[in-house]
Formats: sequence, structure tokens, C-alpha cells
Amino acid sequence: MSNMLSDLAFFLKQAVLQPKQTSSLVPSSRALAKAMAAALSPATGPVVEFGPGTGTITRAILDQGVAPADLTLFEMNPAFAEELHSRFPGVTIHVTGAQDAPKHIPGKVGAVVSGLPLLSMPRSLRREIVGAAFDILRPDGFMVQFTYGQNAPLSAEGLASLGLRAEKTTKIWGNFPPAQVYILRQADH
Ligand SMILES: C[S@@+](CC[C@H](N)C(=O)[O-])C[C@H]1O[C@@H](n2cnc3c(N)ncnc32)[C@H](O)[C@@H]1O
Repeated sequence: MSNMLSDLAFFLKQAVLQPKQTSSLVPSSRALAKAMAAALSPATGPVVEFGPGTGTITRAILDQGVAPADLTLFEMNPAFAEELHSRFPGVTIHVTGAQDAPKHIPGKVGAVVSGLPLLSMPRSLRREIVGAAFDILRPDGFMVQFTYGQNAPLSAEGLASLGLRAEKTTKIWGNFPPAQVYILRQADH
């Protein structure tokens, strides 16, 4: 419990210092983190996480059996990155924007899990980040993204222009605020 409280305090401090980037006052609930990682297994191969924050979703990804050596994180906030580094030995961390992922990932990965506040980002950055995810994904790979409210992570036109389709999976009512998990794939897979 004291760990959860210190996580909350640390996250809240970053939310005050970096409100636009952090875009939430509290980390995702365990239930949402579990739902975000549910489609992963050791067979997924390399996995990339965008915007891990304090690592609630990171922990759930590792709990699915993904090896630390198969997990790469992109976190822009150096304070979060430093904390992640000590919490998750063996996991690779890039302290840079998720949009730069193609410059840092040499091969192709099986899944991208994103805890980024995509819908509060400018549309051009949103498209750039989803485009970066599909640049590094295998053709059969998938991107997991949650949103608050009713809207999908990209509009129908945005998805079509990138050749993608979005599938709604779990709704987590117990998260604050309630969150909807989406899986994005290439439209022909
Ligand atoms: C809403 S918080 C979510 C944190 C965590 N995934 C969770 O669900 O509790 C968004 C996180 O994304 C990071 N972030 C924001 N923009 C980013 C970007 N372009 N690339 C990488 N990380 C980013 C923030 O620093 C923060 O850690």
C-alpha cells in the first residue's frame, strides 16, 4: 500500500510539473493495466511501450510472461525514466518521444502498448505516433491504446489514411476515469 501511495504522490508531482505531457492526475488502475496487456504472451516477441509513466502497464506486460530483454520503453519525462530504470532491470528505456521509435528500434516488433494521452495531443502528432508504431510493427503486429470517453484513438478517416482498423475490447468502468481499450491492426490483417 505504501508503494501505491508513493506512486500516486510521484505521479501527481510529475502531473503538476509536466501537465501537458502527463495529462492525467493518477496512474492507470491495475485493472486497466491488466486489460492493456491481456493480448500479450511470450510468443508475441519484442514489445514496445509508449508513455509508461510510473510503470503500471509495464508491470502488467512483464506479468504476461514477456521477458525484460524483449521490452523497450519510450518515456519523454526523465524523472519517470530514472524511476523505471531502477524498477525494471533488463528493460531498455529510451528517454525520447514515442514518435522517434523507428530511429531506435532496429527490427520489427510484435506489439506496441501505448499509455499515451493520444486524444489530448494535436491531430498531427497523434497520426505521427500511430504511424511510428506501425513502422516498427510486423505486418501481423498490433497496437493497444486506451481512451477515455466515447472516441476511438483516431477518427475513421485517420485510420483509413494509415490503412488501419480499430477494434474495441475491454471497458474498464473501475478506472478513473472509465477507460476503453482498443486494438489497432493493419486493415488487411
Ligand atoms: C497519462 S500518463 C500515463 C502513464 C502510464 N502509462 C499509466 O497508464 O499510468 C502519459 C505518460 O506518457 C508520457 N508521454 C507524453 N508524451 C509522450 C511522448 N510523445 N512520447 C513518450 N512519452 C510521452 C508522459 O510523460 C507520461 O508518463
